Amino acid sequence: MAYSLLIRNCGQLLTLSGGSTARPLTGSELSDWLVLENAFVACENDRIVALGIMTELDETQVTSATRVLDVQGRVVMPGLVECHTHLVFAGNRAHEFQRKLQGESYLDILASGGGILSTVRATRAAPEAELLANALRHLHDFRRYGITTVEAKSGYGLDKETELRLVRVAREAGRRQPVRVVPTFLGAHVVPPEYKGRPADYLDFLAAEVLPALQGEADFVDIFCEKGAFSVADSRRYLQQAQVLGFGLKIHAEQLHDLGGCAMAAELGAASVDHCDYLNAADAAQVAATGQTVAVLLPLVPLFLRQEKYAPGRQLIAQGVPVAVSTDFNPGSCPSKNLWLALSLACLKMGFTPKEAIAAGTLNAAWALNLAAEIGSLEVGKQADIIVLDVRDYQEIPYWLGENPVQEVVIGGQVQDI
Ligand code: NIG
Ligand code: FE
Repeated sequence: MAYSLLIRNCGQLLTLSGGSTARPLTGSELSDWLVLENAFVACENDRIVALGIMTELDETQVTSATRVLDVQGRVVMPGLVECHTHLVFAGNRAHEFQRKLQGESYLDILASGGGILSTVRATRAAPEAELLANALRHLHDFRRYGITTVEAKSGYGLDKETELRLVRVAREAGRRQPVRVVPTFLGAHVVPPEYKGRPADYLDFLAAEVLPALQGEADFVDIFCEKGAFSVADSRRYLQQAQVLGFGLKIHAEQLHDLGGCAMAAELGAASVDHCDYLNAADAAQVAATGQTVAVLLPLVPLFLRQEKYAPGRQLIAQGVPVAVSTDFNPGSCPSKNLWLALSLACLKMGFTPKEAIAAGTLNAAWALNLAAEIGSLEVGKQADIIVLDVRDYQEIPYWLGENPVQEVVIGGQVQDI
């Protein structure tokens, strides 16, 4: 069969291949992956079927039916994988921006009934069609940034009906446009007003009444382990219940305090531990020891919360922790979908090199979603999720601060309108 799509004359083809395929990239593997110069990548339908240097191209597979993109020396790489977002919500929190500028902290605003709870009120009141329209608009924005897979958390309903609606909307949004959507259940985001002062009772309700209704609907269960949200002990019990029901596990932990949530979740075999700004070296060693749990670092969050402390990326890499980088797109702590900016900040504030940042936004982010066998690198047999950047060298990627370098987006072998 002839190639359905050929991308030729890639100045640099960032394959992200050459390392282990059994576990996420760690240490020097984050920068050891293969860059092919003057290269091509070819697809049949939704799959990559060949790649290599231009002199190896089998021209007999190129027919009048082949769509050819001659990219004239540009950089070509796998689509970005956005492994942590709160995609589905109503309203925004621009009204709290001024409070934050005047010095109120994230947890102070939450404790006063604002923050996440303000988005919960707006989201509970919104019609499903409005939530879907919002999610579709955000997914379109993600696609323009060359993001071809998006994880989408619920967590602004905090009651059974609304939480199920948010997961349903995420799934429906995934069906209505090309970006892959991976739904995560974050009913355990904060304690809702109806359970004020009774976090354990709320988690018991979620485990008994809501999780069973989500089997097969959400891939992961997540919890916000933090002062003002859920304790490590309550989080452990809840995640264990989710695990018994067959869900993959994630946790928001060590975002604002060092409580030990990351080490606890890694011990349970979580796919990822997210934030990690306050993760200490001993707990990081426990995460590294699993070899599987990815630390998802979210540098746009401390920037937006005016927090000086960023996750110790360089140290985590040195300790052998697999790291990924994501935006954490949400209306409170990161109203940005610019994953390219997050990769730049990973370099500027967390000590990543450009190659490490690129691996953190692609293959290791795919590992954080248990999807590394399908996406995150350019390898024969994988999904043809490929982006063309209007730069000539990968070092330019984190350098053009806040820019969007994307020129073409291919998802499942289909060239997209962006
Ligand atoms: O990942 N920290 C908890 N949850 C989100 C923020 C959600 C919000 O503020 O609306 C986060 O930062
Ligand atoms: Fe988050």
